[in-house]
Amino acid sequence: MQGIRVLFIGLALSAGLSGAQAQLAPAGRLLASNCFQCHGTNGKGPGFDAINGKSVGEIYTKLKEFQAGKEGNGIMAKHALGYTDAELQALDKWLSTQR
Ligand code: HEC
Repeated sequence: MQGIRVLFIGLALSAGLSGAQAQLAPAGRLLASNCFQCHGTNGKGPGFDAINGKSVGEIYTKLKEFQAGKEGNGIMAKHALGYTDAELQALDKWLSTQR
C-alpha cells in the first residue's frame, strides 16, 4: 500500500505539480491510470469489464463491495483495499466522465 502512495506522489511530481499539491489526494485521472492495464485506457476496454461512463456512485459502490470482500474473485478486492474513501470517490467521479 505504501508503494502505491509513493508511486502516486512520484507521478504527481513528474507531472509538474508542486510538492504541496502532491501531498493532497491525487486527481481522479492519475488514480485511474492504475486501472487501465486491466480495464483499458480511460476504463473503456478492451480487457475486463469497461468501467467508464457509469452514473456517479456506481463504481464507488462496486469498489466498496470489493473492499468488503462481497464481490469478485479476489483481484479487485485486493486492489480496492489500496485506496482511501476519498480516493475511491475521486476514481468514481473521474471514470463517470469518460463517455
Ligand atoms: C490486475 C487487473 C486489474 C486492475 C489493475 C483493476 N481491475 Fe477492476 N477488475 C479486474 C477483474 C479481474 C474484474 C472482475 C471481477 C473480479 O474478478 O474481481 C474487475 C472488475 C471491476 C469492476 C466491476 C465491473 C462490473 O461491471 O461488475 C469495477 C467497477 C472495477 N474492476 C474497477 C476498477 C478500478 C476503478 C480500478 C483501478 C483503481 C481497477 N478496477 C483495476 C481486474 C483489475
